[in-house]
Amino acid sequence: MKIIASNFKTNHTRKTTNSFITNLNDFLQSTNINNEVYIFPPATALDSFDTVSNLSIGVQNGYFTKNGSFTGEIGTDQIEEFGIKTILIGHSERRHILGEDQKTIALKYNYYKALGYKIIYCIGEPLEVKQSGLTETLGYIWEQFDGIDLNYENLILAYEPVWAIGTGISATIEDIATIHKKIKKKISKPLLYGGSVKLANIQEILNIPNVDGTLIGTASWQIDDFKEMCKITNNIN
Ligand code: PGA
Repeated sequence: MKIIASNFKTNHTRKTTNSFITNLNDFLQSTNINNEVYIFPPATALDSFDTVSNLSIGVQNGYFTKNGSFTGEIGTDQIEEFGIKTILIGHSERRHILGEDQKTIALKYNYYKALGYKIIYCIGEPLEVKQSGLTETLGYIWEQFDGIDLNYENLILAYEPVWAIGTGISATIEDIATIHKKIKKKISKPLLYGGSVKLANIQEILNIPNVDGTLIGTASWQIDDFKEMCKITNNIN
C-alpha cells in the first residue's frame, strides 16, 4: 500500500484548505481509495476535520514545547486542539531557508516521538553535494540521521533532494533507485520520494523499487491534480 502526502507549504488559506480537504475526503470515500493520504496545511488553516480513516492531517512544523514564549511558533497545545498527531520534521526548507540545524531537528524529533506522533522525517542533499558524488551524498544523508531514533515505530522517511524541490526537475529514475536502495538497506521504514513529483511522473516514480510513496508540494496544490495522483497511487498497489 503506497503513501501519498501533500505539503501545502505557504499556500492555501483557511477557506481553500477547508474546501480542498472536504473535496478530497468525499472523493476518497466515494472511490474507496485506501492508500494512506496525508495533508499538511499551513498552521493558520488547522482545524478539526472530519475525515475518513486513511486521510490524516498533519502540521508542517511544531516547536518542542506544549506552550510558552516562542514567538511565531506553535506547540502541542495548539496542534492537539484539533486532534492532530502527525508532523513533518527536517524539511529542506526548514533546514536551508529557516536555518534549522540538526541539533534542533533532533530535539523536535525526540519531543514529538515521546508523544507518539507520526513523524514524516525528511532528508536530502543540496546540489553541490550531489555533484561531489555518491559517497559524499550518502555521507551527507547519514549525518541528517544524527540524534534520530530510526527504530521509532511511527516513522516515515522522505528522501527529497534539495535541488529537485520546487524546481520542476525531479531526480532521475536511476538517482532515486540508487539512493532509495542505499537508505532501505540501512533503515527498514517506509521511504517516500519528494522533489517535483507531478501527474506526468508519479507513476514511474512509484514503480521504482524501494519507493513506498510520494511527498508532493507544488503539483499537489490543485485538488483535481491531487485526486488524479491519488488514483494513480491506488492503481499501483
Ligand atoms: P515540490 O516540493 O513537489 O514542489 O518539489 C516537494 C516538497 O518540498 O515536499
